[in-house]
Amino acid sequence: MSLKETAAQVRLNAYAPYSGFRVGAAIRGASGAVYAGCNVENVAYPEGTCAEAGAIAAMVAAGETVLTEVYVIADSPEPVPPCGGCRQKLAEFGTGEVPVTLATVQGAETVTRIADLLPGAFGAAHMPRG
Ligand code: THU
Repeated sequence: MSLKETAAQVRLNAYAPYSGFRVGAAIRGASGAVYAGCNVENVAYPEGTCAEAGAIAAMVAAGETVLTEVYVIADSPEPVPPCGGCRQKLAEFGTGEVPVTLATVQGAETVTRIADLLPGAFGAAHMPRG
């Protein structure tokens, strides 16, 4: 399945009873394998997790720590942009050049890249003794 199909499919499993906003994410690991994630909300609202976080967790659980491509989809008027926290999470596992496709279920797509989503990112190099 393509990243787009995977993201659209997993979005249907999103657990979003509070926002009603279902999001699907698919990422490709360096091996070529595709990992899926959806948002999982909680009655204690801050405990909810984003679709991107779920896909990253699936990738790491499978033993991969490098991602090469990202696709995020939601039923939004404009292609859905990842939240700030997810931008930092994506930057942890992908270079600035990694393409990130933002999409709507209606078929609109915007392609950007991690460096453009998170300019001036905090990274390991900022912690010389870390
Ligand atoms: N959400 C995501 O899963 N990914 C995004 O990129 C944007 C927001 C989720 C979090 C929450 O469950 C719902 O969308 C509304 O914010």
